[in-house]
Amino acid sequence: MNFEGIYEKTLLILKPDAVQRSLVGEILKRLEMKGLKVVGLKMMILDTEKLREHYAHHVEKPFYPGLEEFMKSSPVVVVCAEGKNAVAAVRLIAGVTNAGEADGGTIRGDLAMGMCNVVHCSDSVDTAKQEVPRFFKEEEIFDYDKTEYLHVYMEDERE
Ligand code: PPS
Repeated sequence: MNFEGIYEKTLLILKPDAVQRSLVGEILKRLEMKGLKVVGLKMMILDTEKLREHYAHHVEKPFYPGLEEFMKSSPVVVVCAEGKNAVAAVRLIAGVTNAGEADGGTIRGDLAMGMCNVVHCSDSVDTAKQEVPRFFKEEEIFDYDKTEYLHVYMEDERE
């Protein structure tokens, strides 16, 4: 039973507010309960270089200095989650960027109020393909069978 290749990988950053507010377990729980497979997980401190690369599209925006300071204010937890259409699935359960406007039931809607929005998640499959190797070395991504998948996807979805 090796489903490698038919699932997407996506990148999440559990931001400094998630770490400081002791929400790491809650967020991981939500990913796991959804049926996503955690294939990479580590704590790290983000430096200016990594943040400027990660937020390259936003570096010139007025909010960027505050965002960079916030993202460096404590360690973060980076997660690589895998599953069918994982990028879209994670975006759905994360909720919209401004947590104050996010639907109840989503991570941001339930756990945050504003732009301290507890998680970053890849916004497209192409972005995820850049973001996962930005934060994880190849050997830090684990390829293993998750028996639970038999009860997450119907047989025809696993083909
Ligand atoms: S934009 O301008 O619409 O493209 O930006 P957006 O996609 O909404 O947000 C991109 C990331 O920047 C963060 N952000 C902010 N952080 C702090 N303060 C303010 N005002 C702010 N505005 C946007 C936002 O949370 C996004 O971060 P990630 O890590 O991608 O969720």
